[in-house]
Amino acid sequence: MLKVILNGLEFKNPILTAAGTFGKGYELAHSYDLSKLGGIIPKTLTLKKKNGNPFPRLSEVPCGLINSIGLENEGIEHFLNETYPILKKLPTKIIVSISGESIEEFAELLSTLNRETDIDVFEINLSCPNVERGGEEFSLNVDILSSLLLKLRRMTDRVLWAKLPPDVYGIVRKVEVVKSVGIDAVVLCNTYKSTYIDVNKMSYSIAAGQGGLSGPAILPITLYIVREVKKTFPDLPIIASGGVFSTEDVIRYILVGAHLVEIGTMNFIKPDEVFKIPFGIEKYLKEKEKSLDEIRGYLL
Ligand SMILES: Cc1cc2nc3c(=O)[nH]c(=O)nc-3n(C[C@H](O)[C@H](O)[C@H](O)COP(=O)(O)O)c2cc1C
Repeated sequence: MLKVILNGLEFKNPILTAAGTFGKGYELAHSYDLSKLGGIIPKTLTLKKKNGNPFPRLSEVPCGLINSIGLENEGIEHFLNETYPILKKLPTKIIVSISGESIEEFAELLSTLNRETDIDVFEINLSCPNVERGGEEFSLNVDILSSLLLKLRRMTDRVLWAKLPPDVYGIVRKVEVVKSVGIDAVVLCNTYKSTYIDVNKMSYSIAAGQGGLSGPAILPITLYIVREVKKTFPDLPIIASGGVFSTEDVIRYILVGAHLVEIGTMNFIKPDEVFKIPFGIEKYLKEKEKSLDEIRGYLL
């Protein structure tokens, strides 16, 4: 009933755990039934191990969370030797999120993973600084975005998803690039640039002074972006990511056309919930006497 066929792959249901909010992906395998999830996206992987940013890296704010983790991860060597052999045995789809500080670094990472694994889907995390251009994010310049995605597209036949940072006013131009180079689906969106202040300490709440806002505060904005993109590019599949804290929130994204929905911050607050949401969707569909396909894009 909840099955989703997307990019030629079968997902048990539309629920994925978002990168950076579910550890390496397998830590909860002894406590929870991971087969209840449509898929898992482990923490973004980079070529070399990264220790991340100084602490504090997380700050709770009204209706949300600001993080500045700095892509802390084990690097590809450890991933291939230790983590991937465990991940590939899990009873759900594994989507591997990748990132780099230059086009070449992205390409080397993808080429190694493509050669040494049978991973079905790569999620390209575009919310990262391009050191060759003074730290400008890859998606800010559509020519750079296009060169990067085209290079990666030509390297593999596996499914590629592009995860964009949010952009309320200019998202259509960026998604146009994603679509034109043949990327299979777009993930909307990553966290929102933000900052917060601890008035008593007279300092920023996170050491980096700024970070990415996630959680319920962002849902209405990301929902708007998903709707805008789906209206403009009806044939490009969307994976929504932003502020989901309930079954109803997932349904909201599906009603404006999302095929799959990633859940992030909620996993820190109520880790059980992500496993219950598929049942919630089933109940909703029964009550409305409709299928998932019938409600997808119902409000466009
Ligand atoms: C602590 C934390 C770490 C994150 N790390 C990553 C990451 O490594 N790669 C990535 O693409 N997104 C990362 N994200 C963004 C989430 O995957 C998700 O897209 C975003 O938080 C919006 O969804 P949410 O409101 O459900 O959390 C992170 C978010 C949080 C809160």
